[in-house]
Amino acid sequence: MSIAPVRHVLVFFIVAALYKEAQATCFDDPTADACKDSSSFYNDTAINTDMQSLCTAMSYMTGCNIMNDCNSKKLTGVYCQPWSLISDVCDTSTGETMSMMKGCQANYNLLCKTGTKVTGCGTPVPGMIPTKTLTQRVYDYCQIQDPKPSGCNGCAANGMGCVNPLTTLSEMCKKDAKEQYCNELTKFCALHAKDTSSTSVFGVYCNFATRASMSYVLTVVMVFAGSWHASQLSW
Ligand SMILES: *[C@@H]1O[C@H](CO)[C@@H](O)[C@H](O)[C@H]1NC(C)=O
Repeated sequence: MSIAPVRHVLVFFIVAALYKEAQATCFDDPTADACKDSSSFYNDTAINTDMQSLCTAMSYMTGCNIMNDCNSKKLTGVYCQPWSLISDVCDTSTGETMSMMKGCQANYNLLCKTGTKVTGCGTPVPGMIPTKTLTQRVYDYCQIQDPKPSGCNGCAANGMGCVNPLTTLSEMCKKDAKEQYCNELTKFCALHAKDTSSTSVFGVYCNFATRASMSYVLTVVMVFAGSWHASQLSW
């Protein structure tokens, strides 16, 4: 017996290691300029696959509600882009706490480290209400509202079963925007009040907030008019 097979195995591992090194791409170091465009290493199909996995595991996440509305074309625009959708679930800047889920760990967490150059990392819907808060509000409001919207059916205190909680809370707050349940949604809607097209975040989730946004616009106009007046006086 010769040691040739052993040598072959060794060579194989060295070549494999070198190959891996050559392939040491954006998953190892996403801070390289070459990582900006992710289409060659994490394309829309791959992101969608991770989203499917995430939303199969926890269908009641805020990001899954948004994805469902994008799929049905109720919602359109930048927040329907795959990178934005997976950011809704995996990004932690909004207070969402799902980054330990497999569908985040597989790719998103590796690519979206501090200093990343990957375009699309950290692009959630601004001010997105984290799943835990959102489902708590829905659950609590479901306890007192009558008649209950269909989204209350099976909605548990821990969030499980609260399908499309953003849609459900939006329906409830449209009927009666009680502060204790609708506070976060009102703030969220104020952030999106400028884009009022019917398929925008505001158009889809914020029907109830129209008056609030009008008073916001009025305030801005008054402040502007006030400072204009002041500037005239100082001349
Ligand atoms: C996405 O990447 C996979 C491989 O990771 C490839 O099989 C697939 O064709 C790509 N899809 C698109 C739309 O480019």
